[in-house]
Amino acid sequence: MIYKFYQQHIFPHVLNQVMQTPSLMDKRRELLLPISGKVLEIGFGTGLNLPFYQQVNTLYALEPNPDIYHLALQRLHETPFHVQHIQASAEKLPFADNSLDHIVSTWTLCSIAHLEQALDEVYRVLKVGGTFHLVEHVLHNERPNIQRLQNLLTPIQKRLADGCHLNRDIERALKDAELELKECLYFDAAGIPAIGQRMLLARAIKR
Ligand SMILES: C[S@@+](CC[C@H](N)C(=O)[O-])C[C@H]1O[C@@H](n2cnc3c(N)ncnc32)[C@H](O)[C@@H]1O
Repeated sequence: MIYKFYQQHIFPHVLNQVMQTPSLMDKRRELLLPISGKVLEIGFGTGLNLPFYQQVNTLYALEPNPDIYHLALQRLHETPFHVQHIQASAEKLPFADNSLDHIVSTWTLCSIAHLEQALDEVYRVLKVGGTFHLVEHVLHNERPNIQRLQNLLTPIQKRLADGCHLNRDIERALKDAELELKECLYFDAAGIPAIGQRMLLARAIKR
């Protein structure tokens, strides 16, 4: 019961604050400003990407958790383009095959229970030549000590942070899903503890 209270009433606010860390907001801007037209965002969260969709006319905001989506409502009122909330999971996208030019994920792939299935869905609904734009925290492949800690602490992190894995190799997962990396930039985000600091900003194409 206490855990349920934490998940519904505390965690969404913690998420909303942590995800506004300035270094993360800078990367949202870098990832999202070039995107135009219709976009599907998976794991829309509390709507922190909205100000950076400067050339978007329709956003499909896929977010399965109503307690998290609720915190986006004020931001949605201030948004000048059409946003359609879709309460569904990335493992089963309610879109036709080959139907979208752009899909976005910002720090969502860590939390999806069945990552492989979700990436297969991203591949299925993207048009040929369409782009998956993402920024994610990842397994630190260059620092074995950090990697060990990431593996050790992931079971606790999953409980504290709504299913978040610290130890996902996202580049490997994209390649396994047959998505071709057009941009692939690793960086360490300022203001984030070392265990979750390694990030990947990438754009991957369906060929
Ligand atoms: C760490 S938060 C990131 C939120 C937001 N993308 C951001 O950048 O602030 C992870 C998000 O993924 C969502 N999520 C969890 N499992 C999911 C799934 N299977 N499909 C789609 N979204 C999921 C969570 O509800 C949460 O909103």
